[in-house]
Amino acid sequence: MTAPHHAPMALLEVRDLGKRFDAAGGGDAPWVIRGMGFAVADGEFLTVVGPSGSGKTTLLNMIAQTDHPTEGEVFLRGERILHAGAPRLNPGWNRQIGYVTQEDNLLPWRSALDNVLYALRLVGADDAAGRERARDLMAAVGLAGFEDYYPHQLSGGMRKRASLARTLVYDPPVILMDEPFGALDAETKAILQHDLMTVWASKRKTIVFVTHDITEAIALGDRTLVVSRAPARVTLDQANDLPRPRRAEDVIVHPAFPPLYERVRAAIR
Ligand SMILES: Nc1ncnc2c1ncn2[C@@H]1O[C@H](COP(=O)(O)OP(=O)(O)OP(=O)(O)O)[C@@H](O)[C@H]1O
Ligand SMILES: [Mg+2]
Repeated sequence: MTAPHHAPMALLEVRDLGKRFDAAGGGDAPWVIRGMGFAVADGEFLTVVGPSGSGKTTLLNMIAQTDHPTEGEVFLRGERILHAGAPRLNPGWNRQIGYVTQEDNLLPWRSALDNVLYALRLVGADDAAGRERARDLMAAVGLAGFEDYYPHQLSGGMRKRASLARTLVYDPPVILMDEPFGALDAETKAILQHDLMTVWASKRKTIVFVTHDITEAIALGDRTLVVSRAPARVTLDQANDLPRPRRAEDVIVHPAFPPLYERVRAAIR
């Protein structure tokens, strides 16, 4: 099955996705997500906002194939890579879909660099070239000099940087990010947002970025989706063409920002 021909082919497409978990006491569990559909263009930075518990992590888990959909399909470059009832999952779909999860999941007994190298080892690519790439990436995400630190010796922001490096090291074209900067102070958050936009622009990734923060969603995204409370579906698909390169502090004083913010905020209610 291929994507429809009326639009340029999306890099990633979610069609009619639905999810319900098994009910604790048997019977029919409520739908967490139902009739969710959207497409992401190659190189696009898509942000997703929605209330807590609305199914954003569940959505990313299905795209990353760490969880099964109950209904629907996911396509990558027009190829169907997941459908309800698929006999088994292929997490990360052959290294095509990287996932920076809501918790950073660094291995506590490995240094920051070894966490990145471990990701390479899992895909059989921790050769000399891979190791050099890992070191370069540590520098690219601002962790030069901290390679040998263990996760408990790193700040929250540094752990997020290490998680991002671990995802970038095997070069997936699509990267899913689940509220990566949620728990950070405003200053650290602004720096990480800036560095992420730099990495995105230079490595030409396609990003699906979940956040609670409307300002962050608009500042980072080419487009912002709002998802509703359960059952989650897309209730607003808001493009913006704020000039790039962007800095969050410039975005919020741009005349186009307040109406965008207001539209997204109204859709979340
Ligand atoms: N493994 C599971 N079993 C049963 N219910 C689950 C499971 N995982 C998530 N849920 C339920 O699905 C709903 C959506 O959860 P999810 O974690 O996707 O929300 P979220 O939008 O990511 O929230 P937050 O913004 O707080 O991270 C919640 O009601 C949650 O209780
Ligand atoms: Mg979540």
